[in-house]
Amino acid sequence: MAKRVLVTGASGLFGRAIYKEFLSDNSWETLGLAFSRAKESLKKLDITDENQVKEVINTFRPSVIIHSAAERKPDAVENDPDGTKKLNLSATDYICQAAKSIGAWVLYISTDYVFDGKSPPYDEDAKPNPLNKYGQSKLEGEKITLEASPENSVLRVPILYGDIEYIAESAVTILFEKIVKGSELIASDYEKRYPTHCDDIAYVIRQLADRRLQDPEKVHGVFHWSSNEEMTKYDMSIAMASAFSLSTENIKADRTPSKGAPRPYNTHLSCKKMEALVSGRQTPFSEGIKTVLQPYFNK
Ligand SMILES: NC(=O)c1ccc[n+]([C@@H]2O[C@H](COP(=O)([O-])OP(=O)(O)OC[C@H]3O[C@@H](n4cnc5c(N)ncnc54)[C@H](OP(=O)(O)O)[C@@H]3O)[C@@H](O)[C@H]2O)c1
Repeated sequence: MAKRVLVTGASGLFGRAIYKEFLSDNSWETLGLAFSRAKESLKKLDITDENQVKEVINTFRPSVIIHSAAERKPDAVENDPDGTKKLNLSATDYICQAAKSIGAWVLYISTDYVFDGKSPPYDEDAKPNPLNKYGQSKLEGEKITLEASPENSVLRVPILYGDIEYIAESAVTILFEKIVKGSELIASDYEKRYPTHCDDIAYVIRQLADRRLQDPEKVHGVFHWSSNEEMTKYDMSIAMASAFSLSTENIKADRTPSKGAPRPYNTHLSCKKMEALVSGRQTPFSEGIKTVLQPYFNK
């Protein structure tokens, strides 16, 4: 089968890492899609338009589609149910139907927020129970993907950080804005998270796609990938300050549940199924975050 991969959301925080990972391997022919941030290397395409989706898939004829585009900010999802339905559900359906018509494998990027966070660690077959509308919409997207074809796959990932285009782009690096200025930062010291470098997940995704083409019966259903470093946002803030020898005096711990859309307490993902298929890489948070934030230090 042709090694041809289509990456949706290739201009986003995670999609950029996935796109870059496939580009780094010349055995793959890679096409990245973007919308408002389309550049010369990325194709501009509105995935909420069924005809545009059909056309790109029928023309490029990928064997693998990594579907990363989504609305992923829980508060934005609560405030825009119609927009979220179009992007997270209808677009997923268009992609899966077009993929099915040409026999392409879809890997749908999902989230640890499909779990309620009450009984970690979560195996791949643990029962989801999302607490907020974002988690619900991503779980519905999973169902659309797996119902379109039992051959398709889902990959759930936790809170991400990686190369950023602006400091507020990820829910992790945004904390650095106040730290670097020395202003007071009240950071959640309640919910447990496992911040994971986008590049580490992109690395396992490319291997999984290779396995899928070599050994299709071994690669279907739900997968997880996550770091094992348990941290609250307060812990991440202290680690970011320490990475640049900045004062931690103004970083205050908030030991109450986060405000806004309800968040799960601890969604630690067990990754056994993926570990059996690929060789993983776990960048320590202190190292990964230093590299990511270096360009924003002394700016
Ligand atoms: N970030 C996290 O911490 C995190 C955690 C767990 C799971 N995830 C999941 O990971 C995936 C990627 O998240 P991310 O952080 O990369 O999100 P992101 O940075 O917000 O990127 C979203 C992407 O979707 C694209 N997009 C939006 N509307 C579109 C449309 N109508 N047509 C085509 N493309 C459209 C955007 O394109 P333009 O920018 O060019 O408009 C962008 O490339 C999502 O499925 C998310 O649920 C993310």
